[in-house]
Amino acid sequence: MRIAAVCGSLKATSGNLVLLRMLAETDRAEVVIVDLLRHLPLFNPDIEDTGPAPAPVVAWREALAASDAVVFACPEYGFSLPGALKNGVDWVIGSGELHQKVVAITAAVGVHARGAKGRRALRDTLEAVDARIVWDQGIVERGELAGLVEAVLAGVAAATLEE
Ligand SMILES: Cc1cc2nc3c(=O)[nH]c(=O)nc-3n(C[C@H](O)[C@H](O)[C@H](O)COP(=O)(O)O)c2cc1C
Repeated sequence: MRIAAVCGSLKATSGNLVLLRMLAETDRAEVVIVDLLRHLPLFNPDIEDTGPAPAPVVAWREALAASDAVVFACPEYGFSLPGALKNGVDWVIGSGELHQKVVAITAAVGVHARGAKGRRALRDTLEAVDARIVWDQGIVERGELAGLVEAVLAGVAAATLEE
């Protein structure tokens, strides 16, 4: 079981990255923090249509494809998701690496109500690429990560049974 952990914040001291590092301590799955969003060019259909994908795009698509599930920990920016993460999803709309992928959406928050608009926007974006969203909650305390991990494991098991 391999989980790709993607942080929507590019900030070095990101609270969401701290959350993903805590997630990576689980012994229930292999968690790989995928820090590639910062290297992606801005999505442009002309690039996609006219030649081989740029190397960072290939790496991003391969990292998603090689994972059984993806956990997104994402801050809210301007009542939405950060542009860097939206750009990352745009790069796989055509190639399909998130199609039917088991995904969890979360955010490191001080109170559960915080960041809900950002998660809602990310949810809409992931629904557009037909991802299987199995968890969508902000996390206040480290102990809540266990519920996320179990939801992801159950989602992958259910998806495997359907194949
Ligand atoms: C440019 C920018 C826009 C933000 N917009 C919002 C917002 O609309 N709503 C909100 O609740 N917080 C907003 N925030 C606060 C961040 O969501 C919050 O600080 C988050 O915890 C940062 O996550 P990080 O530590 O992983 O970078 C914004 C922060 C920045 C830098």
